[in-house]
Amino acid sequence: MRVDVLTLFPQMFESPLGYSILKRAQEKGIVDVVLTDIRDFATNQYKKVDDKPYGGGPGMVMMPGPVFDCFEHVEQLSEQKGRVILLTPQGQRFDQKKAVELSAEKRLILIAGRYEGFDERIRVGLGAEQISIGDYVLSGGELAAMVIIDAVVRLLAGALGDEDSAKDESFSEGLLEYPQYTRPEDFRGMKVPEILLSGDHGKIAQWRRLQAEERTKKWRPDL
Ligand code: 6GU
Repeated sequence: MRVDVLTLFPQMFESPLGYSILKRAQEKGIVDVVLTDIRDFATNQYKKVDDKPYGGGPGMVMMPGPVFDCFEHVEQLSEQKGRVILLTPQGQRFDQKKAVELSAEKRLILIAGRYEGFDERIRVGLGAEQISIGDYVLSGGELAAMVIIDAVVRLLAGALGDEDSAKDESFSEGLLEYPQYTRPEDFRGMKVPEILLSGDHGKIAQWRRLQAEERTKKWRPDL
């Protein structure tokens, strides 16, 4: 998969992309994340990319020119057509189902905004879909883009080691995860449930399923 990110802050991505699963997935060639700085496409001598909203009101709005020019530059870096996604709190809520859907794409083009928002002509003109990662306001789309990249890339074939499996995890069946234990068997008087030490794999699977269902009912009945 190729993921292009259009952002005013490409350096914000370096740390999350530089560790663990995301780092390994890039090294293995499973994903290629390409960051492009929208400010490089500012035409004004002050490298201006935002301006006051027509009609008045607080804050600044991302100008269409630099975003369009940046997009058109990025678009032609690969022959593969991309699914174009604007990160905005107005978007559709991102969830595991959306992550699975996006993980089937060959190319994503993520556009992260700052300021009060994008000039409406950016969404309309680029034919972009909009995604939000939850009902709260972030200072920009960058963190949201990183959340999406992480959730999507770990679903790509070969991204996880054999130790980690995406199959058994929370949400893969609409359930929270069952409780996990590792050594020691007795930690400060808190013991590992007997059944996990029994070696009876059928019984263990049954117990885990029940635990997952109970926790989901108790903690996330909305799922
Ligand atoms: Cl995608 N952007 C911003 N600025 N805030 C958000 C968001 C995105 N998703 C949730 N909050």
